[in-house]
Amino acid sequence: MNLAALNEIAEKMVTPGKGILAADESSGTIKKRFDAIGVESTETNRRDYRELLFRSTEAMQKYISGVILYEETLYQDAADGTPLVKLIAEAGAVPGIKVDKGTKPLPGFPGETITEGLDGLPERLAKDYERGARFAKWRAVIDIAAGIPTAGAVKANAHALARYARICQEAQIVPIVEPEVLMDGSHDIARCDEVTRFVLQTVFAELFEQRVALEGIVLKPNMVVCGKKCETRATIDECAHRTIAALKATVPSSVPGIAYLSGGQSDEEATAHLNAMNKIGGFPWKMTFSYGRALQAAPQKAWAGRPENVAAAQRAFTHRARMNALASLGKWEDSLETALAA
Ligand code: 13P
Repeated sequence: MNLAALNEIAEKMVTPGKGILAADESSGTIKKRFDAIGVESTETNRRDYRELLFRSTEAMQKYISGVILYEETLYQDAADGTPLVKLIAEAGAVPGIKVDKGTKPLPGFPGETITEGLDGLPERLAKDYERGARFAKWRAVIDIAAGIPTAGAVKANAHALARYARICQEAQIVPIVEPEVLMDGSHDIARCDEVTRFVLQTVFAELFEQRVALEGIVLKPNMVVCGKKCETRATIDECAHRTIAALKATVPSSVPGIAYLSGGQSDEEATAHLNAMNKIGGFPWKMTFSYGRALQAAPQKAWAGRPENVAAAQRAFTHRARMNALASLGKWEDSLETALAA
């Protein structure tokens, strides 16, 4: 393993003023997104949609440091025959690949899941590297409900994340380590805080045991927020302070950067939370975004599967990318949302 080279990629992924586009929706998830805008999920439509994002020159060159791809997209060509991965690299962003195979029920743990995909991973990574991928992603999912998460399920997921991470580093690929505590449910922010700390502590213990070099990873956690169905709402500031405190208590400072998932927050909430944290400062890592929904909801709606809407969709994507890029510097203001809307 060449750790200096891994560290260089990880640092590039969390460049201040830029962040990661998570465009790695699985076939099932992209179908759900397309259903919502009345578009059939065919291979060509998926290609056309993702191509419009990657050809959003201003967003890609100025605000996006890396793009997470689903396997189909990594090996797909644009309409003119150019590999999509080449469009990303030419814009100066790092291409990455989602390598987990999704979640399955964890036997013996009702209501909890385990992420699968370790089988054959070294061989897949070698091929993905060849095609241009320089980082990977694996998402572990932790749900909060009565009696869960259990320590057993958290440990099993953390162990799989650590195995994945070390296998990636061996293949000269930077692992994004993503333990997502879901915001579904009615739990309050204190419960999210407690579970997030426990999950991160367990993940870093496993990363240590599996000999993962922390300088060569990017952490992709959830923020500490209220459950979607919680009756009391926390302020932007409380979420920001609690998230920073939870991470400071559990994440070693040798990790180059934190790239948050949006997890179902509204577009503006995801931006405001990231901005608030970077305004507060006082932590040892870069903090940026690795958003899926919070970057793509607007362009998907604007596009609606129509070629004549491509330019409008690209403007919508560029706007959200720019807002989040400003938030990664703590320089976003509410008023910029309308003032700078393209
Ligand atoms: P969201 O930002 O929509 O949560 O997606 C990020 C992601 O990559 C989830 O695995």
